Amino acid sequence: MASLELGNVSIRSYAFEIVSKEIKLELLPLLSSSSSSSSSSPSSSSREGPIVDLQKVFRSFTFNTICQITFGLDPDQNPNNNLSEFAAAFDLASRLSAERALTPSPLIWKIKRLLNIGSEKQLKQAIKIINVLANEIIANRISRNRLNLLSRFMASNDEPAFLRDIIVNFTLAGRDSVASALTTFFWLVARNPGVDSAIVAESDRVMGASEKTASALSLPYTLEMPYLTASLYESMRLYPPVQFDSKHSLTDDVLPDGTVVRRGSRVTYHPYAMGRMGHVWGQDCLEFRPERWLVNGKFESPVCPFKYPVFQAGVRVCLGKEMALMEMKCVAVAVIRGFEIGLVYDDYSSSVPKFDPGLTATLRGGLPVILKTRKRSN
Ligand code: HEM
Repeated sequence: MASLELGNVSIRSYAFEIVSKEIKLELLPLLSSSSSSSSSSPSSSSREGPIVDLQKVFRSFTFNTICQITFGLDPDQNPNNNLSEFAAAFDLASRLSAERALTPSPLIWKIKRLLNIGSEKQLKQAIKIINVLANEIIANRISRNRLNLLSRFMASNDEPAFLRDIIVNFTLAGRDSVASALTTFFWLVARNPGVDSAIVAESDRVMGASEKTASALSLPYTLEMPYLTASLYESMRLYPPVQFDSKHSLTDDVLPDGTVVRRGSRVTYHPYAMGRMGHVWGQDCLEFRPERWLVNGKFESPVCPFKYPVFQAGVRVCLGKEMALMEMKCVAVAVIRGFEIGLVYDDYSSSVPKFDPGLTATLRGGLPVILKTRKRSN
């Protein structure tokens, strides 16, 4: 049912309307107010000007968009509706769940859960807050328009537990993943001026060099940018938002290569490691090279999704993949056309970034940058 809803043309264009509105009215004005005008190349003066944490900006942006797409509520327009508490509880629950995996034995967190102490007590409280707020959203029938996902699901099933799961799962799936992908994408683009210039050149060719970025955004434009698409796939190859993912076997099973999996076993696949394997991606697998996805200038997605399991593969593949790519393309093109991005810290410019524990990849310390308004011909 969820796949039918997300594939629906009207939900896709509704999502695009929300994303482009948020870019135009919130994201670009926010970034503009924190940028200075460009005098020369970004590298020559990249350490001067106000500092913006792009990771924080993207997390707020994706929370705002997913709340509107999922249940028709704009957190910016509803300052008293506890949505910031909702977001904080999500963050806490996500971190604490991931920290379970860091304990030397699962017995430790299981005992804490049994005794309702420490991190397990906090996790229980965070989940309770999420459930209470999700129930409030449903009870108040906040979704007044018929276009958002909650309204569509309500039309066929108004059981509260089902609707609560829709709110929680879609918010969780659609917020941090896209913010994470955008953050590492901009980290890579800032370190690779050639990629930055190629995206500007491609967008100028498709949208026109003197167009006002935000008002020029349109769905067909994003489809006509193979280099941008390749850059996003390439950045998620190196920095997948879901770095690894585990499954638990309910019964004895055998994997396609003959590996026997006993009932109760945990099997983990690791997109982060797979993106760094020479025998999968070639000897230059550690390089950020969008061109590897292009054949005669056209974008070629991997023949086998199991080679690139960033969105998982098979029957439980991510249902929001196309929506996520649309959102990322729109943000990427609007921000890159609008600004030159300079990284603040040397360690960010030179080394592999460090991540906080969490269900989705989050850069430790955020992504502090300095923005300069990009000069464009008019
Ligand atoms: C770059 C962004 C995204 C990435 C990398 C991503 C990745 C993934 C992955 C790896 C899974 C499998 C999780 C598992 O089964 O353990 C998944 C599932 C899912 N994703 Fe995404 N996702 C992204 C964005 C989105 C968005 C924007 C939405 C919705 C608006 C979404 C909706 C879903 C749903 C509903 C599932 C569950 C599918 C099922 O269990 O059948 N995702 N995603």
